[in-house]
Amino acid sequence: MAQQEEIFKKLISHSKEYGFVFPSSEIYDGLGAVYDYGQNGVELKNNIKKYWWDSMTLLNENVVGIDSAIFMHPTIWKASGHVDAFNDPLIDNKDSKKRYRADVLIEEQIAKYDDKIEKEIEKAAKRFGEAFDEQKFRETNPRVLENSAKKEALHTRFAKALNDSNLEELRQIIIDEEIVCPVSGTRNWTDVRQFNLMFSTEMGSTADGALKIYLRPETAQGIFVNFLNVQKSGRMKIPFGIAQIGKAFRNEIVARQFIFRMREFEQMEMQFFVRPGEELKWFEQWKQTRMRWHKALGLGDKKYRFHDHDKLAHYANAATDIEFEMPFGFKEVEGIHSRTDFDLSSHEKYSGKKIQYFDPELNQSYTPYVIETSIGVDRMFLSILAGSYCEETLEGGETRVVLKLPPALAPVKLAVLPLVKKDGLPEKAREIMDDLKFNFNCQYDEKDSIGKRYRRQDAIGTPYCITIDHETLTDNQVTIRHRDTMEQERVPVTEVGKIITDKVSLKNILKKITQS
Ligand code: GAP
Repeated sequence: MAQQEEIFKKLISHSKEYGFVFPSSEIYDGLGAVYDYGQNGVELKNNIKKYWWDSMTLLNENVVGIDSAIFMHPTIWKASGHVDAFNDPLIDNKDSKKRYRADVLIEEQIAKYDDKIEKEIEKAAKRFGEAFDEQKFRETNPRVLENSAKKEALHTRFAKALNDSNLEELRQIIIDEEIVCPVSGTRNWTDVRQFNLMFSTEMGSTADGALKIYLRPETAQGIFVNFLNVQKSGRMKIPFGIAQIGKAFRNEIVARQFIFRMREFEQMEMQFFVRPGEELKWFEQWKQTRMRWHKALGLGDKKYRFHDHDKLAHYANAATDIEFEMPFGFKEVEGIHSRTDFDLSSHEKYSGKKIQYFDPELNQSYTPYVIETSIGVDRMFLSILAGSYCEETLEGGETRVVLKLPPALAPVKLAVLPLVKKDGLPEKAREIMDDLKFNFNCQYDEKDSIGKRYRRQDAIGTPYCITIDHETLTDNQVTIRHRDTMEQERVPVTEVGKIITDKVSLKNILKKITQS
């Protein structure tokens, strides 16, 4: 774990050094859990968004997009339940004065039991070598059994406390498990209290007329309140989906782990409207489709897993997370929820407007049920960075840091490098670049040795570099260098555009989603 923490620290400083992510307002000492994306970060982020958007709207004829406003009528948040129930249980340590989420402290405790079990297994696997039977060991080893039982008991108690919204019991679990504050090391805890996560502001100029409004904590409600607009204007037939990408805001209590938990972040959400009674079938289908979307990036299938929810929100009848193995453990990147007809019915009630769909096949009107897929752009960004970051030792002992980003997502697709800064090579390189820059993002670089320039491109994940040398002037060929293998091949200048376009096209990944 210590090694993983070390890698995470390196990832954060690498992100800053190479223009991916900067702390917001840095010259004023920053603003908690708010970040800015730099010149490479914004390209990667835009590519992630395009991958998601295209997978939704191009691959599904019945999914269309919208872009709703961040400011919405405040009653929307009453109807959605956010005013009354969008809370986190918080607890303070009286000695350090630090504030924590009670549920997170307990989840971390559960993860500790898992760690203990995994360590026992690792030790035994080393001791017994090939003869090791993991299954049998799990079923018989007393220490594994003891930790499994403790974990199970804690898990059950925790789930019940959450389901009952029993704040006293959450505190009691923290006391009974002897959980200490990581800063003060003491168990001097306050009571657990609920804390609403929505930011509010005022709209309108006079004190009398000003309206208290909220910065949206999710983009989904913009979709629900536009359901009829899209259905009618697009003559959409159920089942159909509405997709949206946009900013969301939450006043997170525990905002740590870089861009994993932010106060201003971006979501990519899709609400899929279906006939009542068919929702679980569609839930299963979207679960599999979304997992294929993640795995198609090629970062390694083992890095993903489903985590089905024990505690279902009162309006949901199924929910799962897609988790990615971050340097700090498996963490949620995406949520998939079967939200029944809760949101549309609630908006019907609060607005007084009928929100129903007439199904011509059934000759009947009903409130559609909804399957939601909801993924954070920033978390996805972090998972891709973490999954791509490699430190390699090369022949001769030299090291390189390389981001093995999926080529279609890389900020720069091609670096154009004249071998030397003279003899007409820069001019030839510029000529090639001026032709290719219409196809994909190219970067020209003539400074420093070719080795240093390759390292710079490796560090930002550029999948291909071409070198223009003296021979290029006579044979009109360049050397393409591949980022991951560092292999080089000689190709005619006239073919570079096609070769690179084929390799960096999003089409390659999108096709994988539909094939598997
Ligand atoms: N409409 C459903 C919804 O918002 P959620 O599980 O609260 O569900 C969905 O959020 C996704 O949004 C999460 O899986 C995560 O990727 C992202 N997300 C949520 N809170 C976030 C935060 N504070 N910072 C970054 N991403 C966040």
